[in-house]
Amino acid sequence: MHIALECSLTGEVHDPTQLQGLSRAGKPLLARYDLNSLKKQISPEILRRRTERSMWRFHEVLPVNSPGEAVSLGEGLTPLLTCKPRGPFNDFRDLLVKDESFNPTQSFKARGMSAAITRAAAMGVTTVALPSAGNAAGAATAYAARAGMKCIIFVPEDTPPANILESACGGAQVCLVNGLISDCGRLCRAACDRFGWFDLSTLKEPFRIEGKKTMGYELAFDLADHRCSSSLQLPDVILYPTGGGTGLIGMWKAFDEMETLGWIGPERPRMVVVQAEGCAPIVKAFHEGATSAPMFPHAHTIAAGLRVPAAVGDFIMLDILRTSRGTAMTVTDGELMQGVEELARYQGFHCAPEGGAIWIAARRLKDAGWIRHDETVVLFNTGAAVKYNHLLKCENALKLDHNDPRTLDALALACP
Ligand SMILES: Cc1ncc(COP(=O)(O)O)c(C=O)c1O
Repeated sequence: MHIALECSLTGEVHDPTQLQGLSRAGKPLLARYDLNSLKKQISPEILRRRTERSMWRFHEVLPVNSPGEAVSLGEGLTPLLTCKPRGPFNDFRDLLVKDESFNPTQSFKARGMSAAITRAAAMGVTTVALPSAGNAAGAATAYAARAGMKCIIFVPEDTPPANILESACGGAQVCLVNGLISDCGRLCRAACDRFGWFDLSTLKEPFRIEGKKTMGYELAFDLADHRCSSSLQLPDVILYPTGGGTGLIGMWKAFDEMETLGWIGPERPRMVVVQAEGCAPIVKAFHEGATSAPMFPHAHTIAAGLRVPAAVGDFIMLDILRTSRGTAMTVTDGELMQGVEELARYQGFHCAPEGGAIWIAARRLKDAGWIRHDETVVLFNTGAAVKYNHLLKCENALKLDHNDPRTLDALALACP
C-alpha cells in the first residue's frame, strides 16, 4: 500500500504513517494512491473475477496491504435494483436504486466505518469516538466491536431509538446530547482532546470517505452488468440524500480515480444533492452561487441523516455540483415520508426517509424537464426503513375475530 494524504484545499501533503484528522488548513485530507502503477496491475476484468464478497474487492484503492487486514462484516456489493414502470414510476425508462440498506447495520455508513476502523486498528487505536445522526453510530459500534475497540458515540437526544438501542446493545458508550449533530461534534472533539480518544468524525478523519467511495466503483460495475456491457458505465444522473456529503464526495473521487486508471472516460453524471426543507445549507449555498455553506439556522427534519446544519466538506460538494452541471433541491418532511410509502408500495423497497427524499426529488426534476424520460437515473437509498419505525404509520390494519362467522364478509369489503 502506498498512500499519500493531501489537503483537499491546499494540496499540502501530510504524513500517512501518523494518525491524522483535518489538514493543517483545517480541511479534509484525501488519500492518494499511485494509480499510474496500479493501472498496470489491475483492470475491471481482474476485479470481476475476484471472489471477495465485500467492498474489499477494491482493496488496491483502499487503506490496506491485503484484504485480509480489513475489519469487515461483508459491507458493500449492494444490489442495483431496477424500478418497475408502475404508478408514479411510469415516467422513467431507466430508474435504478442502489440499495445500501443491504449493508451490515443496514446503511451505507458500514462502508466508511469498515475502512476507518481498519486503518485506526492498524495504527494501534484502542478507543474511537464520533458524533452521529444515528446510522454512523450503529455502524461504528459494530466495527469497533469487531476490532475489539471501545466506542463512544455522541448523538442528539432525539436520534432514532433504533440507532440508540443498537449502539447500546453493541457495547458502545452512548452519550445523548441536548443539541444538534454540530453540538455533538464539538463535544466529541473536546472529549477526544482531553481523553486521547481517536476522533472518527466524518471527513475529519481521512478514511471513512475511502470506504464510501466504493459506492462509486460498484456503481460503474453494476451499470455495466445492467447494460450487458464489458466496459464500465456511469448513469446520466445520480441523486444523493446529503448530510455531511461524504458519500457524494467519495463517489466523485472514485470516478476521478477510475478515469486515471483508464477504466472510464471524462464524462460524469449530473450530481443532485437532496436535503430537507428544514435543514438545507448546501441547497441554499448552491442557489446563492456561494462557494461555502454557513451554518443553517434552526435545523430540523425527521430525516435524522439530513439534519446536518454545517458540513466540513461544503466547498467540495458545491464544486462537484457545478462541475457536474448538477443541482440541489429540498423536499418537505411530509413529502419524504410519502416517498418512503411510494417506494414500498410500488417497488417493494423499504427505504429510509433519506431514500424517500431522493425519489420525490427525482420525480420533481422529471416533471420539470430537468431529467429526461430516456435518461439513466440512479437513486442512492442510504438506509433501511426499519431504523425509522417510529415514523411509520399503520392506518389500514384490520382487527379480525376468528370466532365471528361474519369475519370473511368484513374481509371481502376491505379487500375487494
Ligand atoms: C440514512 C442516511 N442517509 C444519508 C445520510 C447523509 O450522509 P452523508 O453524510 O454522506 O451526506 C446519513 C447520515 O447520517 C444517513 O444516515
